[in-house]
Amino acid sequence: MENSMLDRIRVAAGYIRQHVDKIPAIAVILGTGLGDLVSHIDIKAELDYKSIPGFPLSTVEGHSGKLIFGSLGGKYIMAMQGRFHFYEGYDMKQVTFPVRVMKELGVETLLVSNAAGGMNKEFRVGDVMIITDHINLFPENPLRGRNDDSMGPRFPAMTEAYSHRLIDLADGIAREDGIRLMHGVYVGTQGPTFETPAEYEFFRVIGGDAVGMSTVPEVIVANHAGIEVFGVSVITDLGGKDVKEVPTHEEVQRAAIKAQPVMTHIIRKMLERL
Ligand code: HPA
Repeated sequence: MENSMLDRIRVAAGYIRQHVDKIPAIAVILGTGLGDLVSHIDIKAELDYKSIPGFPLSTVEGHSGKLIFGSLGGKYIMAMQGRFHFYEGYDMKQVTFPVRVMKELGVETLLVSNAAGGMNKEFRVGDVMIITDHINLFPENPLRGRNDDSMGPRFPAMTEAYSHRLIDLADGIAREDGIRLMHGVYVGTQGPTFETPAEYEFFRVIGGDAVGMSTVPEVIVANHAGIEVFGVSVITDLGGKDVKEVPTHEEVQRAAIKAQPVMTHIIRKMLERL
């Protein structure tokens, strides 16, 4: 990685340190329609992305673009309300820049959420799926280019990209509270098109349970940086050759908003136990 990248990461982290009293060890990235978790945070500080040097700006509907610091489930956390998507035109280094900044700030655990289309025939709209693994179908890997060994290894293993410890923690909470919690493999695609029926079928055949346009880049960089990751998808639509409904962004947002309480409950309880 070129030095200017490292400089930009340090400048952004320095700015955040200057404007926030305390830096958390846990970060949460909130996906489409899943920003409501923020209303449960006892907020201590907020920074607009546009005020942080080096941060790209969030453009898509449903993403307001703020870094929020405060307490949830008795833990002090930072939450990204809105993320950067490859389909918006950002390059992979921009998409994953906030994760590099988190690492520079000392974040050790990252909880990521997203809205996703379900291919698994057992899934229903509104289901919450723990991501157990992913398939990276983005056209570019965020680690492409010269590797800075101080940030992570040239060839990082991805055998446990999603922490088994954190998956077990979420499963335990779901069992105790009688929550229907699915498990599955997330297929990451560049978008912005939703899938053709044949593509949904193809993603099912290759081992995917849900598909979405985010998360994979951030998870790759978090793993490279040695950050422990937990990922969760809200199933907002279903895809496949026998599915007649046409997915829209509005429908995705509506379904995500409806499923938010379950996701928020799980994340809050996980934070209590971390
Ligand atoms: N495909 C891709 N991304 C998505 C979908 C989908 O069906 N639903 C929500 N995000």
